[in-house]
Amino acid sequence: MTRPKTLVTRGLVEAPLARLRAGTDATVNLADRALSRAELLAGVRDVEGLLCMVTDRIDAELLDAAPRLRVVSNHAVGYDNVDVAAATERGIWVTNTPDVLTEDTADLAFALLLAVSRRVVEGDAFARSGEWGGWEPLQMLGSSVAGATLGLVGFGRIGQAVARRAAAFGMRVLYWNRTRLPAGEEAALGVAYAPLNELLSASRFVSVHVAGAPETRHLIDAAALQLIGPGGFLINTARGAVVDERALVSALQEGRIAGAGLDVYENEPQLTPGLADCRNAVLTPHLGSSTVETRTAMGDLAVDNLLAVLAGQPPLHAVNPEVAGRLRR
Ligand code: GLV
Repeated sequence: MTRPKTLVTRGLVEAPLARLRAGTDATVNLADRALSRAELLAGVRDVEGLLCMVTDRIDAELLDAAPRLRVVSNHAVGYDNVDVAAATERGIWVTNTPDVLTEDTADLAFALLLAVSRRVVEGDAFARSGEWGGWEPLQMLGSSVAGATLGLVGFGRIGQAVARRAAAFGMRVLYWNRTRLPAGEEAALGVAYAPLNELLSASRFVSVHVAGAPETRHLIDAAALQLIGPGGFLINTARGAVVDERALVSALQEGRIAGAGLDVYENEPQLTPGLADCRNAVLTPHLGSSTVETRTAMGDLAVDNLLAVLAGQPPLHAVNPEVAGRLRR
């Protein structure tokens, strides 16, 4: 029996890749770069399964170039890179990798919060510079975390994991979300709901945890940054486009907010001009889920999702379960 053809757009952790190779006729891009658009369009021509990354744009044109495609398995929890409606129309499953990256992403949000508030990166550079003349009472003063208010914009799995960390650090936690949690769950997590503008004004730290989507684009704009104010810090480990990055750079340059910790950017891998020079920003290159453990689990889940569909089963994590009634054969 011929095995179904699949395309993997970047090399993955070894073990899940080996399972995919065992179950399918897999072409894997092992080059140290993303596929070009032309390579991606050509690469999907005969495949039934596509395992892709957040850096791949999976739109209607791409789906039309793949007449045999049955599943787009996105190696990420977010799927703003995939035109889900176009996939559903064509009878193609779209899947993602939730849960397995929740704790590591929450850790990175907290690492950025601590790094920017306690000036860890600036301090590291200073300690190495040869300029440090010894302990001083007014040296590199930061901003306390214990006792401060943290506002979580978006309160899904990752936002809630950040709230648990904040409780251990003695913070007061507010959240804003499309849907409010039942009172019992709020009490169990020790959090209080607040309308967005109220949350922005009341929080010293604001951390973004909404999905990337047209409705959340520039949710944190110049007006929101003004509410965060000169004593406030913005943390973003969600999607760059949720923040108006040009407005953020101006606010950082002019001291209209105290600092930012960013893992995601509006036009990755480009940074808005000026951002790289802001000493009050700590910047990481989209590392939220980047641990050996989590990338292994994400690879496993992405492969399991893909293999399930090719075996005629529903995937473990479908983004578009409504496609079940109109599947492509
Ligand atoms: C990474 O950005 C993800 O969505 O998993």
